[in-house]
Amino acid sequence: MRKKIIAGNWKMNKTVGEALAFAEALTPLVAGKDSVDIVICPPYTALYSVSKAFEGTSVATAAQGVFWKTSGAYTSYVSSPLILDAGAKYVLIGHSETRGRFGVAEEGLTDDLLKAFGETDAGVNVKAKAALAAGLIPIICIGETLGERKDGATDVTVADQVVKALEGISAELVSTQVIFAYEPVWAIGTGEVCAADEANRVCGVVRATIESRYGAETASAVRIQYGGSMKPDNAAELLSQEHIDGGLIGGASLKPADFAAIVAAAAG
Ligand code: 13P
Repeated sequence: MRKKIIAGNWKMNKTVGEALAFAEALTPLVAGKDSVDIVICPPYTALYSVSKAFEGTSVATAAQGVFWKTSGAYTSYVSSPLILDAGAKYVLIGHSETRGRFGVAEEGLTDDLLKAFGETDAGVNVKAKAALAAGLIPIICIGETLGERKDGATDVTVADQVVKALEGISAELVSTQVIFAYEPVWAIGTGEVCAADEANRVCGVVRATIESRYGAETASAVRIQYGGSMKPDNAAELLSQEHIDGGLIGGASLKPADFAAIVAAAAG
């Protein structure tokens, strides 16, 4: 049995004050939900305060991204040791928004400019290795765009992202320290959730891809989250699927009651 993991990705939201108010409200709502790993991903600016506020509770924190160097002259970037020092246990890597795959034409932004956000598959791989070397748990995000889905390229896109993300990472680390989040880009922030059976099928493709590289034992140990318009009213169905071991939640993680309801759905 894989332990479910529910993570709230706040993206570029919440001041320190708002983040602390959230922590205070959430803590009693999820008390005793020890059968689920609970994670909050605040913006960097609130990571330390939120980590402190959840100290002694079952809620852990994650950074929303990481640079692969450990220290040095890298203006604006944040390393794994600094993230650990701020109190986080996990880090998101390869989110579609940091890969520059917003899935919508932003006003005045060309594809080139969006891609300049720049997380590539190779970048995801070096960041995952750096995070693991420092003792952070990477949550590696993968998923197809609407165009890739319409072209029938969902499975090859996702499998290719998985293979490239894991290059050079040992079976032991994959089975004990790596988490995947399948987030179809077209379902993120759109209210358009992927049907539970289809989300499960693609998470199964992720697992089969891991199996083909590392064997069945490793593949069956890896936790795979679904992300994309997960809400209190659709969480239970998604979380009951064989290959879905948790959720990565954006919009519905901004309100303590909604996020707690999703944690409750995972607790069963
Ligand atoms: P939404 O839940 O707002 O669709 O966002 C999903 C997501 O991108 C989480 O990382």
